[in-house]
Amino acid sequence: MATMDSLIGLVNRIQRACTALGDFGGDDQAFSSLWDALPSVAVVGGQSSGKSSVLESIVGRDFLPRGSGIVTRRPLVLQLQQIEEGQQEYAEFGHLPQRHFTDFFVNLTLIDLPGLTKVAIEGQPESIAQDIEDMVRSYVEKPNCIILAISPANQDIATSDAIKLSREVDPSGERTFGVLTKLDLMDKGTNALDPFHHFTSPSSPSSSCCSEGRSYRLQHPWVGIVNRSQLDINKNIDMIDARRNEREYFATSPDYAHLASKMGSEYLAKLLSGHLESVIRARIPSITSLINKSIDELESELDHLGRPIAVDAGAQLYTILELCRAFDRIFKEHLDGGMLKNYF
Ligand code: GDP
Ligand code: NA
Ligand code: MG
Repeated sequence: MATMDSLIGLVNRIQRACTALGDFGGDDQAFSSLWDALPSVAVVGGQSSGKSSVLESIVGRDFLPRGSGIVTRRPLVLQLQQIEEGQQEYAEFGHLPQRHFTDFFVNLTLIDLPGLTKVAIEGQPESIAQDIEDMVRSYVEKPNCIILAISPANQDIATSDAIKLSREVDPSGERTFGVLTKLDLMDKGTNALDPFHHFTSPSSPSSSCCSEGRSYRLQHPWVGIVNRSQLDINKNIDMIDARRNEREYFATSPDYAHLASKMGSEYLAKLLSGHLESVIRARIPSITSLINKSIDELESELDHLGRPIAVDAGAQLYTILELCRAFDRIFKEHLDGGMLKNYF
């Protein structure tokens, strides 16, 4: 486990270094292929479907703009990383660089995408819905992007924009996690069991699952979530209480109690971490060859770079070079030690 943790940590650091390099105007092909080989997680869904809430609850911290009238206008790329600062580990987010978060448990690059929308509101161009969809697609079409497709359970799942877009970019469903939010807001007397049952018994006759069954079919299990309501947010219910409430909700729900151990944000976080690990394992050979290629290119780039002329860019390149070397070294050490044997 420690092995995988250190690898994930390095992947995150390399991603961050690549982002920093991008900010310096670097557009080297090697870096963009390296970036593309590294996994990230993006949330997709309609406005107010609960995207920001889900990201926060899988991380277990409050850090995102959230609420009924609040719209994420541009993708927030959140790099969660463990940085050693004495004994203290903390996470830092692109939009809140001054705040350090401690006591988190997943190592991921998380992308909070703007909500898919149907109609322009006053002051927005007519093309807004298409523009947002295109921008969201540009993130989720990358094969390294793990998609959290968020659908509110109090709307028709069969017409979910999140599922529609995910299916388009990931037809086999291998990198899509279907997430049903707002289970607590469904009409009394209704429940959202179909997607859960459809996954848990995919070979069963579809009688219980109607013609919509096809739209539920993903390779990963659907996870039901109960996030904080707007009232909870107004009352400053914190994450610990929110999680306890969510656990209680599932444990005591007549509809979902039998599935309680496979519901909720903590379970989703566990599924995601496990999936991320397996993705990184599968990518290790290609990441390593990219890194080796990058080391060569970085070295020749550093040779050409007049250090006094471009100190900052040089320093960034140097940082990336160091990270690449560290990654390569750790990888080789583990390989030599036989610790990566079963990764292949
Ligand atoms: P986003 O626009 O998709 O990022 O959605 P937000 O996370 O900002 O949530 C929008 C609103 O829905 C907020 O007022 C949340 O409190 C509320 N909300 C989100 N998920 C749930 C849920 O599972 N149950 C309830 N009751 N409210 C939720
Ligand atoms: Na919102
Ligand atoms: Mg949001």
